[in-house]
Amino acid sequence: MKTLLIVYHSMTGGTRQMAEAAAAAARAEAAVDPSGPALQVLLLRAEQAGPEQLLAADGYLFATPENLAAIAGLMKDFFDRCYYPVLDQLNGRPYAAMVCAGSDGSNAARQLQRIATGWRLAEVAPPLIVCTHAQTPEAILAPKQIGAEDLRRCAELGAALAAGLALGVF
Ligand SMILES: Cc1cc2nc3c(=O)[nH]c(=O)nc-3n(C[C@H](O)[C@H](O)[C@H](O)COP(=O)(O)O)c2cc1C
Repeated sequence: MKTLLIVYHSMTGGTRQMAEAAAAAARAEAAVDPSGPALQVLLLRAEQAGPEQLLAADGYLFATPENLAAIAGLMKDFFDRCYYPVLDQLNGRPYAAMVCAGSDGSNAARQLQRIATGWRLAEVAPPLIVCTHAQTPEAILAPKQIGAEDLRRCAELGAALAAGLALGVF
């Protein structure tokens, strides 16, 4: 049984919806195997995840808001806690990243790629960035509702990761 680990942080709900859409699609993909699911999906908030979950998983999806042109602090804390305990033990495993941003997201995506490069993970898809277009402080702090088309893109990424892992193509 393979494991897809999804680690995320979310303050106003956007990234959570993206991670949940990816997780649901990954689970649905695993369930279509007639010989029984070959994959389990573990969806964890950043503060619940640590080296143990990383080492036990076969592939990863990291999802973060972009805050102040960077990955969210709790995602940074997750990587800070885990980076050296798992270094050189994840080499070659597949991963993808999702960023929920107001209007940009590119720097958070770059940071995730750099950390993943340090871990020698294999990027299986380009970073998926969803912009909420919130501009004012009020809109930025308000609960988010990610649109159906963006959630479909997240689901597609989750399903692709699940299919690749279950079939052993990564
Ligand atoms: C303190 C703070 C800083 C932010 N900085 C950025 C930024 O640098 N670039 C950007 O595109 N969006 C920025 N945003 C907008 C968030 O990325 C956006 O609201 C996103 O929906 C947050 O994800 P969440 O709903 O999962 O919390 C910022 C939001 C906050 C609260």
